[in-house]
Amino acid sequence: MDEDRYATSSASRSSDEDITQALLPDSKIEDATTTVARRHGRGNIIRFVTLQFFLISIYTTIFLALRSGDRDHLVYSPAASALKFEKIRYNATLVIESAYNGPPSPEVDAAWTALLDNMNIAVPKSDLDKIGSTSIRIPNTSTYFAGLGVFHELHCLKRLRQYTWKEHYFPNITPNDERLNRLHTDHCLEILRQAIMCRADISLFTLQWSEDNLHPRADFSQEHECVDFQAVFEWAGKRRVDAGAPGLLVHPKFGVAYPNGTSSKIGGSEDVSATIVED
Ligand SMILES: *[C@@H]1O[C@H](CO)[C@@H](O)[C@H](O)[C@H]1NC(C)=O
Ligand SMILES: *[C@@H]1O[C@H](CO)[C@@H](O)[C@H](O)[C@H]1NC(C)=O
Ligand SMILES: *[C@@H]1O[C@H](CO)[C@@H](O)[C@H](O)[C@H]1NC(C)=O
Repeated sequence: MDEDRYATSSASRSSDEDITQALLPDSKIEDATTTVARRHGRGNIIRFVTLQFFLISIYTTIFLALRSGDRDHLVYSPAASALKFEKIRYNATLVIESAYNGPPSPEVDAAWTALLDNMNIAVPKSDLDKIGSTSIRIPNTSTYFAGLGVFHELHCLKRLRQYTWKEHYFPNITPNDERLNRLHTDHCLEILRQAIMCRADISLFTLQWSEDNLHPRADFSQEHECVDFQAVFEWAGKRRVDAGAPGLLVHPKFGVAYPNGTSSKIGGSEDVSATIVED
């Protein structure tokens, strides 16, 4: 009888297998037992291995993220490896001591020039392929002219500063140069607006009452999540090209692009194409 067989086999086996066996004729019992055991064993191994791979990939991701500040990037840049994030407290008092601020002086100009020193870099074609773009090849090399966005933005900030001292930086210019200068300045304002909105700093500023003023005082001296600029600057420095060097930028039809060494102070042309050579 079925009940008898169930009773005898259940004595030595676990319940899952017992039920399976109880429902099968005698001849199939042995086959079914090994198949079920094998299926259970294989399933456990697959689950175990999958779990291990899952954990390893999570730990690897966390390790890499902690080590280099790596994040997922929507847009390729060869400089991604240079990105490190750090907390930086802004200097935000009304009067700020800074090498980049204040009336025109050889020291302030030198500080800005140094900041923009790594504006032009050489990149391999594979980098351009990854962003779906092309560039001008650097003569006698297999590399191409390029630059990091941050340096164009800094160039724009430098231009805006110069415009606030325009009698000093652009004296006695023609009405047409005046117009081009205005265009270049507006171009830079728009670049910086887009750059600021692109990065959207979400650190908080706060308000305080002061003893001597009706109006609340804003405190902008908070911590911000910042890129370690020095690391990016040095990354670019290792690939730096002197774009103004003789023979490097030669138009195939018109010849040497900057026969006089540097671009004009105004910024070259209506499309602001000359920002590549900083002075
Ligand atoms: C704040 O000012 C100090 C002193 O001038 C300077 O060393 C520091 O780099 C400045 N911090 C920032 C974020 O610019
Ligand atoms: C590239 O090589 C040619 C031939 O050797 C040379 O005449 C030219 O000056 C080189 N150009 C640069 C920018 O080095
Ligand atoms: C270079 O300088 C010379 C002499 O000042 C000037 O005549 C010429 O137009 C300048 N060329 C360019 C492309 O700026």
